[in-house]
Amino acid sequence: MNALKTLNPYFWKHRILLFWGFLFIVASNFFNIYKVQFVGKSVDAISHTDKLGFNKEVLIYVGIIVGSSLLTGFFTFMMRQTIIVASRRIEYELKNKIYSHYQELSLTDFKKTTIGDLMNRLSEDVVAVRMYLGPGVMYVVNLLVLLMITSIYMLNTNVSMTLWSLLPLPLLSFVIYKVSSIINKKSKIMQKSQSAISTFVQDSFSGIRVIKFFAKEQYIEKNYGIKVRDYQDKALDLAKTEAYFFTIILFVIGLLNVVILLIGGQKYLSNELSVGKIADFFLYINILIWPFSMVGWVTSVNQRAEASMARINEFLDMKSEIINSHHDVYPIKGDIEFRNVSYTYPNTGIKALDGLSFKIEAGKSLAIMGKTGSGKSTIALLLARLIDPTEGEILVDGRNLKDHNLENYRNYIGYIPQESFLFSDSIENNIGFAIDHPNIDLVKEYAKIADVDKNIKEFKDQYKTMVGERGVMLSGGQKQRIAIARALIKKPKILIFDDSLSALDTETEENILQNIETEITSCTSIIITHRESSAKRADQILNLTAVHDPASA
Ligand SMILES: Nc1ncnc2c1ncn2[C@@H]1O[C@H](COP(=O)(O)OP(=O)(O)OP(=O)(O)O)[C@@H](O)[C@H]1O
Ligand SMILES: [Mg+2]
Repeated sequence: MNALKTLNPYFWKHRILLFWGFLFIVASNFFNIYKVQFVGKSVDAISHTDKLGFNKEVLIYVGIIVGSSLLTGFFTFMMRQTIIVASRRIEYELKNKIYSHYQELSLTDFKKTTIGDLMNRLSEDVVAVRMYLGPGVMYVVNLLVLLMITSIYMLNTNVSMTLWSLLPLPLLSFVIYKVSSIINKKSKIMQKSQSAISTFVQDSFSGIRVIKFFAKEQYIEKNYGIKVRDYQDKALDLAKTEAYFFTIILFVIGLLNVVILLIGGQKYLSNELSVGKIADFFLYINILIWPFSMVGWVTSVNQRAEASMARINEFLDMKSEIINSHHDVYPIKGDIEFRNVSYTYPNTGIKALDGLSFKIEAGKSLAIMGKTGSGKSTIALLLARLIDPTEGEILVDGRNLKDHNLENYRNYIGYIPQESFLFSDSIENNIGFAIDHPNIDLVKEYAKIADVDKNIKEFKDQYKTMVGERGVMLSGGQKQRIAIARALIKKPKILIFDDSLSALDTETEENILQNIETEITSCTSIIITHRESSAKRADQILNLTAVHDPASA
């Protein structure tokens, strides 16, 4: 139970809620057991009265039984309200911790490990851990309390019968544990098959155009069929094992009833026990059988939770490679210098840049040209410090980039990515995303500068138009221009265009470049482009040759 130790501080944090939960467990069990003796007493009372009809004694017993049952119900409700609520809160806190760590990790951290996998599993893992936090803890405590109270009552009634009827129960726990473990394994396999289906469906939805262009509908349908078939097989396999779960429990209930009947019958004949007491035993055993089964189940749940927690810990222990250790806030001018910068992608070993040096004064512009794969986008990543150089250094305003407050620095960067990425949100929010307090007039002003205002006005909902999966599909050029507006609205000091005008016709490109003349002169701009015409506007042009390009060797 090593990995689960990480959760102890969480338990401690919610100790008050959990403490109440334990009290409620004791109370609900107490009343659950307390009422049983009155069932026996009623049976005996009835069998001792000769005449049928009103029996005051029995009526009181029935009253106690009903009252106890109500209290049991109430305390069970309260127990769930405390323990399950605590487990949900801990789950929430854990999820937030995982998510914020995810946001902190750098770009290379994501690629080096199988983080995609990890992220997929984490959501499942958190659920597994919650099962340990809530039901796991609850059932174990429940069993212990129940066992204690029931044993006292049972031993008070008859010792040898108590021993006989308790004997098979640990075995039941063990068998249920084994069955649960198999169920867990199989349900994991089934989940995998299910997620394969959803990935496939998602893929074929987003790739629907490609599928239709290539007339591959039948092929896709056939593949889908195979995947669904696989899921069906696995679901059936699981259902078969699950069927054992209750069968075993019911079998043991039957078995124990026979034991009680046999032994109890003999004791009745030898006048050791009354019919009522034997009836009590039936009830005690039926109450105990569920928690004993649950302990088997919980053991397997806890094993799974431990494995899950270990994975979560492994993730939380990952240290980001990009560390921001400065927190002062100051303005950035925008002088940039690359000194002998080399960069090798750690996952592939591809050397994207080799000893690159250049200098841009604040307010000037640099166009970067070069063949595909020559390392242009890598320069943009380095400049925003999404990655750190393998060799050499980058200076901003004469200071090594690593010695800048990263958050402060990035506030001064405007970046238009090569593949325009917009969030599934309104156009207004996508443009306003870059700043803290966007307002619609400002958004419109920058949409005009990026020459996309007139397109937006054609949409029915104008700036409220949703983009992406659940909204309007934008053309490549429209997306690019919204991304440009988003970068400019920040009034950056360093502006990076990563081939961001490629989807535009030359006329629109000219329009934009003219509109942003003032923006460009007020900041240092880096324009990655394949077009001579755009490059010529810049103060300098950098021509990259690919490190691996045989022509440059
Ligand atoms: N995340 C990555 N992991 C591994 N290698 C990468 C990664 N990104 C880029 N590379 C490699 O680094 C080299 C430079 O890539 P980069 O994206 O900087 O080229 P680029 O000049 O922007 O090309 P393009 O004009 O096609 O956009 C390429 O050989 C590419 O395969
Ligand atoms: Mg690129």
